[in-house]
Parts: sequence; C-alpha cells; structure tokens
Amino acid sequence: MDTIHICGGYRLDGEIPIHGAKNSALPLLVATLLAADVSELTNCPRLSDVTASLAILRHLGCVVTQAEDRVTVDAAHLRCGHVPDELMRAMRSSIVFLGAIVARCGEAVLTYPGGCELGPRPIDLHLSALRRLGVQVTEEHGRICCRATRLRGAEIALPFPSVGATENVLLAACTAEGTTVLRHAAREPEIADLCGFLNACGARIRGGDSGTVVIEGVPRLHGACHRVMADRIEAATYLAAAAVTGGRLTLTHCPALPVSPVFAPLEQAGCVITATGDSLHIQAPSRLCGMGMVRTLPYPGFPTDAAAPLLAAACVAQGTTVFVETIFENRYRYVDELTRMGARIRVDGRVAVVEGVDALNGADVACTDLRGGAALLVAALAARGDTRITELHHLDRGYEDPVGCLQRAGASVCRR
Ligand code: UD1
Repeated sequence: MDTIHICGGYRLDGEIPIHGAKNSALPLLVATLLAADVSELTNCPRLSDVTASLAILRHLGCVVTQAEDRVTVDAAHLRCGHVPDELMRAMRSSIVFLGAIVARCGEAVLTYPGGCELGPRPIDLHLSALRRLGVQVTEEHGRICCRATRLRGAEIALPFPSVGATENVLLAACTAEGTTVLRHAAREPEIADLCGFLNACGARIRGGDSGTVVIEGVPRLHGACHRVMADRIEAATYLAAAAVTGGRLTLTHCPALPVSPVFAPLEQAGCVITATGDSLHIQAPSRLCGMGMVRTLPYPGFPTDAAAPLLAAACVAQGTTVFVETIFENRYRYVDELTRMGARIRVDGRVAVVEGVDALNGADVACTDLRGGAALLVAALAARGDTRITELHHLDRGYEDPVGCLQRAGASVCRR
C-alpha cells in the first residue's frame, strides 16, 4: 500500500504548472463519442478517473490512444451502448455517458453510479431532463435503460444548476431535432469548456457560461482537437498549500478568472494574489488570519471542491473560520483525520467551525475522499514532524503527481 510521507514546516517557494482539469476532461472524453470520427484532447491529466473513462470508451468500441497529455479517441465504430457495472462504479461521474450514448446509439443501458463518500448522489435531474428530450427511461434491478428513436429539442429548466445534469443535456441535445433551451444551467467554467469543444465539432451552442444555454440541433458532429482547460481545483489546492506554509508560489498555465472565487478568503487570511498572463502568484504572510465565513455555492460562488484544502489551511490561522457546505451533504469526513493532527474543528451538519491552533502535529492519517485527501496534504505541509498519508487511491483520482509538484516547490515529501 503506497504512503505519502511529509515532513512539515518547509515554506513552499517556486513554480507549479497546473494540469488539465479532471472535471473538464471527463465530460470532454464522453463528448468524443458523439461523432463517428477521431477527436484529440491535449492537456489531458493522467488520473485514475481518466483511465476509468478511457476503459468505458474502449468497452463501447472506441479506439483510444494515450501518450503523455494527449488522448486520441476514434469513435467511428461503436460496438454497443451498454456500460457494465464494474466500469460504472470505477468512476462516480460516469452517469454523464448516458446523454452521449443515447444520442449516438439510440439506446443506453447503465447501472447506477452508486452512492459516494460525499453522501447520496441522486440522478433525478439528469433523468427528468433527458425525458424532456424524448428519452424513454426505465429503471429496473439497479439498471437504467434509456431509449430514443428520435431526440427532440425542448425547453428545460433545472430546479438546481447541477453540473452533471447540464452536461448530460448538452451532450444529448447537440444532435437532437430542433432547439433546446436549458435554463438554470450550471455555469461552472468546465461547462463552457465542453461547449467550446462541442462547437468545434460542429454543434451550435450559445450561452454556455450564462446559465441559459441554447442548443440548436445539427444532424451530426465531426471530430475536433481541443486543449483541456486548467484545473481550478488543483490550483486552489496549491494556493492553500502555499498559504499554510507562509510561502510564495507561481502557478503556471492557470488563467485567473476560473480560480478567482477562492481568492477572497485567502486574501482575508492575509495572502496577496496577483495574476500575470496565464500565471497566478501568491505571497502568504508568516501566519494566516481567520477567513471569516466561507460558504460553498454553485459557480461563480466558492467551489465545494476547494473547501477542504482551505479548511486545512484555516486550522493554523490566527482566529476562527466558519465553513458552510451547501452543495453536498457529507463533505466533512476528513475532519476526523485533521483532528488527529491537533486541529480544533466542530462540525454540525453542513457547518464546520475551525478555531486556528498555533501548530498541527504530524500523524498517521488516511484519505477519506479526493478533496479530503488534498486537505491532509495541505495540513501535513504545515505540521510539526512527520505525517504519513494512506488510502492514496482517492488522491490519484484527481491530482496528477502532487508529490513531484510539491517537491519542486521545496516541500519535503515522498511517496513509497
Ligand atoms: C460536479 C463535479 C464535482 C463538484 C460538483 C459541484 C465532475 C466530474 N464533478 O459533480 O467535483 O463537486 O460538480 O460543483 O464534474 N443533485 C440532485 N439530483 C441530480 C443531480 C444532482 O439532487 O440529478 C444534487 C447533488 O446531490 C448535489 C448537487 O445537486 O447535492 C450538486 O450536484 P452536481 O452539480 O450535479 O455535481 P456533479 O455533477 O455530481
């Protein structure tokens, strides 16, 4: 079993190149299914969730090659529209395959992606939106069967701006007959990235970043090349890492705007963040101040995925920080691990109150989920002594080579 060893107390100082975004790469890979053609993604991160997506594409009949950060998908000949349970369970966002497979094959049979460490992850919004587009959905024995002889454009209003449901509608509606208007759509930057790729493939989508998306159906799409946008959550994690060590970091290949919702709490903590071109710089004070109230919200609010690494930084701030999680039910499982390191945190439902302590102590801790694992990395960088982190498969889902990135910035960290 792999372990990450961190000896805390070293100030980060240097440069970290930000990889392509997991949450963009996954729907982009799914989108390559829509055209009976070859597509290429560059800046595609090497993550276990990407490997899981490629396994599903191969199962469906695509010819997939991956070299460095470049993935090529030839979706000319699809074998089937069924995704077996073991492939569905390997990755929780696999439900986004539904819209693309039904659009391309007329039939999709998937199993439930299952609950997850963040609490129940329902798919009712995905299914009711697809029904509006003319998909017949039946659910039996944990399988979801979707059929559509013809997809029709429709007016759809999401009750909540779900990222996954927005992606499923986009994927299904591109080649539907007529126009789809999707209101109260998610505005996360990964949605605009997906629309950019689909438009490069010949789709007609407007308003991908506005909350009201208009999709004029076209008969077919063709393949295209696309560069995956930078991972704003990876960037937020390294900003928190720099902040907690009183460090100074430059994040390259990282445009500021998508990351900007995390700036306010870091600035309140005393950090100075500046942007030049596609680089972000952070200079942290020797001791952070409390960050006030951090409430997670859909974009452009503070991202739920960045709360855990910031909470870890707040553990050693002078003062109190209150986190309110409004997106997922069960996001604080990693708090028990931080408590082992001496953090003072009280959790009540969706609220976590963090009282900063003078120092954390190294300990043996285990990742409970992807972003919780990132929180442990951040905390360990600031802790006195050695921390050993296990259950790294969670981190591997969403961070490419975090050990190498942190080493290059001066941290004392290794994996063995
Ligand atoms: C995506 C991201 C995830 C991020 C989340 C919120 C990917 C691969 N994952 O997840 O990292 O944390 O956006 O920014 O991009 N909901 C329902 N019914 C549904 C769908 C969602 O009730 O049919 C609820 C969920 O339970 C959750 C909330 O809506 O409470 C947000 O979910 P959603 O925006 O769909 O997140 P994901 O697409 O799963």
